[in-house]
Amino acid sequence: MSKATSHLNRVFFPALIVIAATSPLLPAQHTDAAPAAPAYKNLTVLKDVPADQIGPAMQFMTTSLGVECAFCHVQGKMEADDKGAKKTAREMITMTNEINKTHFGGRQQITCNSCHRGAARPVAIPPVMETDAMPAKPAAPPASAPGAAQAVTPPTAAQIIAKYTEALGGEANIRKVTSRVMKGNILTGGQQTPIEVLSKAPNKRVSITHMGSSDSFTAFDGNTGWMGNTGRPARAMSASESASSALDSELYLSLRLTELYPQMRRGRPETINGVECEVLNGQNAGHPPVRLYFDKNSGLLVRMVRYSETPLGRLPVQIDYADYRDVDGVRTAFRWTLSRPNGRFTIQIADAKNNVPVDDARFAKPAAEVK
Ligand code: HEC
Ligand code: HEC
Repeated sequence: MSKATSHLNRVFFPALIVIAATSPLLPAQHTDAAPAAPAYKNLTVLKDVPADQIGPAMQFMTTSLGVECAFCHVQGKMEADDKGAKKTAREMITMTNEINKTHFGGRQQITCNSCHRGAARPVAIPPVMETDAMPAKPAAPPASAPGAAQAVTPPTAAQIIAKYTEALGGEANIRKVTSRVMKGNILTGGQQTPIEVLSKAPNKRVSITHMGSSDSFTAFDGNTGWMGNTGRPARAMSASESASSALDSELYLSLRLTELYPQMRRGRPETINGVECEVLNGQNAGHPPVRLYFDKNSGLLVRMVRYSETPLGRLPVQIDYADYRDVDGVRTAFRWTLSRPNGRFTIQIADAKNNVPVDDARFAKPAAEVK
């Protein structure tokens, strides 16, 4: 995909960059035929990979090497082996698998990104210093680090989640909200695009981006996710996109965290943007692994990083929450920034209304074209 085509993807599939946005789309065959697997013609090292994982694997390589699809592919002929880089990539996949098998007990410790780090050619030689200024001292360990004199026992995961629920306004207030309609703008590259986000308890959600005369939809109907654009057939999300979308759609996220991630573990506290945070790590089959950051003072969720598994490694999506405002006794984030290895945008909400009736049909995947 050239710069131009990836721009086209953003124009035609803006839903991609909106909410779930775990993997970019493959060419047309992948977008139109709903669950039917595209017929790949020339897979060798990835031949045993499920068809809907090929796209995420391609994205992982593209991001790790800092290239476009066209670095390895002839446009419109993805199966062709004309480019040397594609052949090298095959050898690299085999090599990486072997390193993990031989040296890391089969765990995916080494990935393309371990060596490439965003460049087609890894750098073997350490760089020289470019300034004689003193290097910044490593940050002092946080007061709660092991070994530091500690009067207070660190909070447990359950306490951190309970504090978050209280900070939002408490369970009773949270449960009084059964639907929410938000209106605002997507801010990206200095441009504003109007967006509406409709949610309904417990986990239905649709975001509608208004692009001129055409709308684009990213939705989760309570069971599965789908995406669509006005006048085109909607497409079902892949299993991993759908799982991420499900998480975003939890209207009562704070109350559901323990259920979604029974093994939630407290991590080492971290400071992000000057805010000291408690960190929780959650893992559970069927849900994307997550890392959650809570403001130690306010208790509010300030960042969520969730990971989608690809056959070649994990891709992160980071969502930063800000501008919490009180709506009917419930603190609600009015601003969130979604960052991925290949893109970033912010949604700024201007107006939020709770308990507006929203018809279930708004969340359902249209049988034919999206209207
Ligand atoms: C670093 C090189 C590299 C990059 C970058 C890359 N690919 Fe691939 N791609 C490959 C390799 C290698 C294969 C074949 C894998 C195999 O042999 O199992 C492949 C196979 C494919 C196939 C299957 C074609 C078929 O019918 O056999 C598709 C589709 C594809 N890539 C799409 C993409 C897209 C879209 C992008 C950009 C997001 C991309 N690729 C980026 C290396 C790359
Ligand atoms: C252990 C380190 C390491 C890992 C892991 C690794 N590579 Fe590489 N890769 C290299 C090195 C070193 C080179 C440069 C070789 C050269 O210059 O001849 C390279 C070169 C390449 C090239 C050729 C680039 C060009 O300019 O033509 C491609 C494509 C590539 N790697 C893809 C991958 C992919 C895809 C993965 C993950 C499946 C991967 N590599 C994993 C070390 C690694």
